[in-house]
Amino acid sequence: MEKQLPKDYKIQLAFETPKEWVEAAIENFDGFLIDHADNERKASNMALSFIAKAPEKVEIIPELIDIALEELVHFKQVYKIMTKRGLSFPKEIEKDLYVNRLIKACRSGWRERFMDRLIIASIVETRGAERFRLIAENHPEPEMEAFYTMLYKSEDRHGNIFVEMALVYYEKDEVLKRLDEMVQIEAEICKNLPLNGLVH
Ligand SMILES: [Fe+2]
Ligand SMILES: [Fe+2]
Repeated sequence: MEKQLPKDYKIQLAFETPKEWVEAAIENFDGFLIDHADNERKASNMALSFIAKAPEKVEIIPELIDIALEELVHFKQVYKIMTKRGLSFPKEIEKDLYVNRLIKACRSGWRERFMDRLIIASIVETRGAERFRLIAENHPEPEMEAFYTMLYKSEDRHGNIFVEMALVYYEKDEVLKRLDEMVQIEAEICKNLPLNGLVH
């Protein structure tokens, strides 16, 4: 897949996670870890789901497989930290309101919807990177600082990759314009969700 964005490109989110969020996440770090592990599992599924949605789009399949594997490794790593701390998943995992609302904001019509789904994947990754960076910068345990530093760099990279995938199939102006719109939509969604210290 040929890259079209400049090397130092980074999606600019329109909502900055406030420090209350990181305080809540570190205070209830057990809850954060469980939610985080589940998000890594879903991220892996999401990458594979693009292949299920568009198996003919062979240009992006290798990258999607790589991301699915990388997220699965993240899941394995976070799950290991969870179990080391004596944590397990609850019987029922709560719905992800953040992702549900983003999906609701996607346009209908196959062409537009596929673009929107790639764009929200990039935004979700960028948001994850922002929040993992906050954990890395504020967690009192050096082990967690190192782990979340490694993670945010990985998620940051994913933030660009899904936009790059959209650029394989759609005009750059169209993709970047829609990305701007979706960034605003995501900011509104964030503002309306409680700051409970979970990944979203
Ligand atoms: Fe991840
Ligand atoms: Fe990721």
